[in-house]
Amino acid sequence: MDSTALYEATGLTRLYGHGPDQVRAVDGIDLSIARGERLGLVGESGSGKSTLIRMLAALDRPTSGTITFDGTPVTGRPERRLGFLRSAVQIVFQDPRSSLNPRMTAGDIITEPLRSPLLRRREDVPTDRGRRLAEVIDQVGLPADTPRRHPHEFSGGQRQRIALARALAPRPQVLIADEPVSALDVSLRSQVINLINDLVAQDGLTLVLVTHDLAVVRHLCSTVAVMRSGQVVERGPMARVTQEPRHPYTQELLSSVLSLDP
Ligand SMILES: Nc1ncnc2c1ncn2[C@@H]1O[C@H](COP(=O)(O)OP(=O)(O)OP(=O)(O)O)[C@@H](O)[C@H]1O
Ligand SMILES: [Mg+2]
Repeated sequence: MDSTALYEATGLTRLYGHGPDQVRAVDGIDLSIARGERLGLVGESGSGKSTLIRMLAALDRPTSGTITFDGTPVTGRPERRLGFLRSAVQIVFQDPRSSLNPRMTAGDIITEPLRSPLLRRREDVPTDRGRRLAEVIDQVGLPADTPRRHPHEFSGGQRQRIALARALAPRPQVLIADEPVSALDVSLRSQVINLINDLVAQDGLTLVLVTHDLAVVRHLCSTVAVMRSGQVVERGPMARVTQEPRHPYTQELLSSVLSLDP
C-alpha cells in the first residue's frame, strides 16, 4: 500500500450564517488522508462530519482553508476544472430513497456519472458504458435485469446497492459514505457493511466513512477521527484510539457505547 497523502486539508473552515446566529460547522481542521486509508469519522450530531466530507467531495466550498487532492488544489477551482476530482471521488449518502432519481431507470442512474461531460473525456473513466454497467451490477450483487427497472421496484438494501454501483462505475480512487446503512433495516445493515468492505478491498479504494456506530467503524476502518464542534479532537489508528483514547470526549464516546452493550 502506498502511504503518501492523497488528501491534505489545512485550516479547513466552513461557517454558516452571519452575526450571532453564525455556526462554525467546520472550524479549522487540518487533516491528511493516506492513499488506501479507511478513515472512520465519528462524533455527535451537528459536529460537522457531513460538512467536512461535502467539502472533501467539492460539493461545498470552505469559507477558508485549503484542500489538495493528490497534490492538486481543489479549493478555488471552478467546476469545469474539477473533472479530476469528480472521477476520482464518489460519494454515497444515507438515504438511497432520496438520493436516487425516481423517474430514472437504475441503468441510467448507475451510468449517469459516466455520461457527465466533465468525466467523459477522462482516460481513467470506462468508455464502454454497457459493459461497465453489467460489471458493477454484478459486483454489488444485483440481478442482471436491474438496469431497466426503477428505484421504487427495489428494497432499501438493493437501492443502496444501486447507489454503490453508481459510485463504483467511474472507477474512483476514493469512496466517501455518509451514514450508508443508518436508513436501512437493522437486518440488512451487516450485508451492506460487508459489501462495502469487499468493494473497498477489491478495488483498493480509499474510504472515508461517516457513522454514529462505532461497531461499523471497527468493522470497516483502519483509522478514526473523532469530531466535536467542528474540530477533530482525536485521530489515530483504530486500535490505539479505541484501546487508549486520549481525549476526554473520545473516552466519553467509547464509554457511552460500551454501556449500551449488553
Ligand atoms: N446548509 C446549512 N445551513 C446552515 N447550517 C448548517 C447547514 N449545514 C449544516 N449546518 C450546521 O452545521 C453544523 C454541522 O452540521 P453537519 O450536518 O455537518 O453535522 P453532522 O456531524 O453531519 O451531524 P449528523 O450526525 O446529525 O449528521 C450543525 O450545527 C448544522 O446545523
Ligand atoms: Mg451528517
